Amino acid sequence: MLVHAITSNAAYEFASDVRAGLSRPGQKELPSKYLYDDVGSALFEVISRLPEYGLTRADERLLRRHASDIVDRLAGPVAVVELGSGSGKKTRWVLEALCRRQRTFYYPVEISRTALAMCERELRDIDSVSILGFEREYLDGLLEVAAHRKDGQHLLVLFLGSTIGNFDRPAGVRFLAEVRRILEPGDSLLLGTDLEKPSTQVLAAYDDELGVTAAFNLNLLARINRELDADFDLRQFAHVARINHEARSVEMHLGSTRRQTVSVAAANIDIEFAEGETIWTESSHKYSTEEIFQMARDAGFRCEAQWIDDEWPFAENLLTAE
Ligand SMILES: C[S@@+](CC[C@H](N)C(=O)[O-])C[C@H]1O[C@@H](n2cnc3c(N)ncnc32)[C@H](O)[C@@H]1O
Repeated sequence: MLVHAITSNAAYEFASDVRAGLSRPGQKELPSKYLYDDVGSALFEVISRLPEYGLTRADERLLRRHASDIVDRLAGPVAVVELGSGSGKKTRWVLEALCRRQRTFYYPVEISRTALAMCERELRDIDSVSILGFEREYLDGLLEVAAHRKDGQHLLVLFLGSTIGNFDRPAGVRFLAEVRRILEPGDSLLLGTDLEKPSTQVLAAYDDELGVTAAFNLNLLARINRELDADFDLRQFAHVARINHEARSVEMHLGSTRRQTVSVAAANIDIEFAEGETIWTESSHKYSTEEIFQMARDAGFRCEAQWIDDEWPFAENLLTAE
């Protein structure tokens, strides 16, 4: 697999985002995309197998059961672009179904080089698939793929695992509208969305007994230590998962267990933490089935079909660009 690597100054952007997020007044925050370095991507793979995290298994069941139906609804020929592919394990079902009818080009778009490498290893044995990975932000990667589409070719964009839930609701619709702007009428978007469920079930999924999600979250501070010459003492921070009822989301934070000062040399800042103060690192919004139809319409798509898992409330939605 050829990988088009990030050429921009990623280290500079990381330092400047860390500086902005940790020096802002009020709630400190860090963009969730930085959770995924090589350690973070490996830990996310483990999370996806935890008994508490039913989301990935639900997504996978729906794709396995309905891959042929999904593919039958697409006008061909089709090239597949996946935004934030991770290891790509679940994507196998869609690619295998498509490859039964055509040679298929598959373009995973990822900011994590480790995830791209896992994805290539996972899917390269499929007959009639050509994989070309893009180490890019979602929309930059999609723009590049769309710019090189062949005459008459349709795009199927995959955005699985309810990664859309990392955006707040208005930003999620704006993001889908950006995707729509890059697509042509008749192109498709397969969108995985985690549905609302009891708070205890949601909290357990983001705060597992084994502590893998805690390690995934704390690794962000370890990454800042490694890459930005910071001196976070990881033992003085704790993983916190909490429900935000108003936003209908679960939030991950890193809470300072005491008053302390941390220095991030490459970002040229010293940060004061009060005891109990947190850094907000990720949100995962949960949806109702009806609001997904509305989100799709607001972003310029029509919802062609929706499949819902019967074990873990999760919906796979096939959207068509209007
Ligand atoms: C929640 S994981 C989901 C992975 C996979 N799609 C799944 O369903 O299991 C999100 C993935 O998106 C990638 N990612 C996060 N932010 C990104 C961004 N801004 N641009 C490209 N990839 C991103 C991460 O590296 C990670 O692999």
